[in-house]
Amino acid sequence: MSVPAKVAERAARLRREIEYHNYRYYVLDAPVISDAEYDALLRELMELERRHPELVTPDSPTQRVGAPPRADMGEVRHAVPMLSLDNAFGEEEVREFDRRVRERLGAARVGYSCEPKFDGASVSLRYEGGVLVQAGTRGDGYRGEDVTANVRTIRTVPLRLQGEGWPRVLEVRGEVVIPKADFERLNAERLERGEAPFANPRNAAAGSLRQLDPKVTAARPLAFFPWGFGELSAPVAETHSAALARLREWGFRVTEHLETADGIDGCLAYYRRILELRERLPFEMDGVVYKVDELAACERLGYTARAPRWAVAHKFPAEEATTVVEDIIASVGRTGVVTPVAVLRPVHVSGVTVTRASLHNQDEVERKDVRIGDTVIVRRAGEVIPEVVAVVKEKRPPGTRPWRMPAKCPVCGSRVVRLPGEAAHRCMGGLYCPAQRKGAIRHFASRRAMDIDGLGEKLVDQLVEKGLVRDPADLYRLRKEDLVGLERMGEKSAENLLAAIERSRSTTLARFLYALGIPQVGEATAQALAGHFGDLDAIMDAPPERLQEVPDVGPVVADAIHSFFRERHNREVVRRLLEAGVRWPRPRRAAAEAPLQGLTFVLTGALESMTREEAKARLEALGARVAGSVSRRTSYVVVGADPGSKLDKARALGVPTLDERAFLALLEHPEDFVRR
Ligand code: IVH
Repeated sequence: MSVPAKVAERAARLRREIEYHNYRYYVLDAPVISDAEYDALLRELMELERRHPELVTPDSPTQRVGAPPRADMGEVRHAVPMLSLDNAFGEEEVREFDRRVRERLGAARVGYSCEPKFDGASVSLRYEGGVLVQAGTRGDGYRGEDVTANVRTIRTVPLRLQGEGWPRVLEVRGEVVIPKADFERLNAERLERGEAPFANPRNAAAGSLRQLDPKVTAARPLAFFPWGFGELSAPVAETHSAALARLREWGFRVTEHLETADGIDGCLAYYRRILELRERLPFEMDGVVYKVDELAACERLGYTARAPRWAVAHKFPAEEATTVVEDIIASVGRTGVVTPVAVLRPVHVSGVTVTRASLHNQDEVERKDVRIGDTVIVRRAGEVIPEVVAVVKEKRPPGTRPWRMPAKCPVCGSRVVRLPGEAAHRCMGGLYCPAQRKGAIRHFASRRAMDIDGLGEKLVDQLVEKGLVRDPADLYRLRKEDLVGLERMGEKSAENLLAAIERSRSTTLARFLYALGIPQVGEATAQALAGHFGDLDAIMDAPPERLQEVPDVGPVVADAIHSFFRERHNREVVRRLLEAGVRWPRPRRAAAEAPLQGLTFVLTGALESMTREEAKARLEALGARVAGSVSRRTSYVVVGADPGSKLDKARALGVPTLDERAFLALLEHPEDFVRR
């Protein structure tokens, strides 16, 4: 079925409009329509393309959300090799570069283009007829990886060139970077999820580009800054700075720090200005680059095997220093993640005294093999927390030992566990550990958990700091005289708070579970657990296999729940909460969920795995009745150790008996035991 011309026209128009608004927003930072209006345009185009898939073009803005994942990356050959740059450290080396250039050109003075040296991943973008057709990484300079689908998701990469005058074949080269602020956030999220953080923004950018699933790349706030060209079917301009300026006309985001300098002194002045700005700039840069501006002169200068003779990178001072690891401690965060931290002999790194550096997790410590006593290189890049880059193995003193994560939390003594699939270790005393106390109580009281109105962050801080509350159960023991006298707490607000705490006693099982702050258990999981088990004891005692029967509970979540309830301290807090009167309606089970409905059980003798009360509660939760004496109507008699006369009576009446093993099997799979 062919697409009606009107529809095709509309799609083409939408595409142009959306790309224009992308450009206004991402490149010029000056949007002219609201986000909602933009979304409406994008949705309309997506709908058209959904109904007429033949309308989808490689330059459609809908492709920016990420194409389907692919099994591996293809290869891209660079017709013009992607070379490296020579480095200059310090003014003298820069002047030496300028002397060589002037000598070769026979010129007294040379004009340079000056630009930042972005610390990211370099890519080459190939446009044919103004449309982006391929993007490749630098690779070995001659062959790189095909990252077209991922690069399409970068909003500052035009999918179709704007304006006019571009050559039929145009290869634009530049750097893919991630803003420092987003890098920090990305790493915080990774640590929170127990994943290893990226060492620096460059690794984050490179890692994002090489994702097999472009949707992951699409979710990262990458940007592209052009710095040069590969194959061209026609020249673009006479100078490098003019060529970059043309890229600006064609829709690229060219750095606003592009300048020209007449002679090397101007370059050195530029260096000092950018160095001064460095900390405040949103992107990481490791130096500046000076390039002979006149392209004809560049051609005469040519290349060495490795780098152009017409350019040099003037590097910023290293943000690294060497020092000694005096100790490695396990630091427990607000959410229970236990992070190894190196305690360092104080050292100056780019103007700041560094005394600690994160080692991230056990795997990182092993990979870098950092030991107490080691001499290490530490780095502080931008606002990034200082980190240990590497160990100077030659300086390792004798008798050092590999570091191991402690088995017990250094703060509360609960077990420290590494959940399957996670890089991080966690303290399992979530409800009890002082390091997690404030966070746990805040979460417990939050609106979607126990919903204790008026118990905000400041108040929790005060209650914990004054020793009035150590765990959530303590909240239910607060008295008015404890509260009045706290900051900003009068009689009336104290009464209101106590009333709110009182109200929270009556809740639902799902809310209660969520409020416990079990790692991996959000609201939806809490609801699924409550719906499936209907009973707290059953959840607390369930082995991971049973927990996995709950929809959406996989092995990692099951393990987290199981580990949480294995911790004696947590069970203790739960018990105290129930003692304090926290309660929820027991679900009335529908017939289908009460598999033992209509059956009567009698218990005799002592069971090993539970008390008689527990056994009774478990049976009743499944819909059974538990009677005190055996009759013809008894369905089963459960027989423990040293049974009494009830067993004799059961035998006399022909009532079936269950030993402890059979009884446990029945609790596990009650549906198998229903008598017809
Ligand atoms: S020009 C023939 N300009 O630094 C190579 N490179 O250390 C010309 N880089 O591979 C490169 N910012 O990935 C140039 N403004 C800039 C740059 C820049 C970052 C990267 C680029 C290059 C590496 C060399």
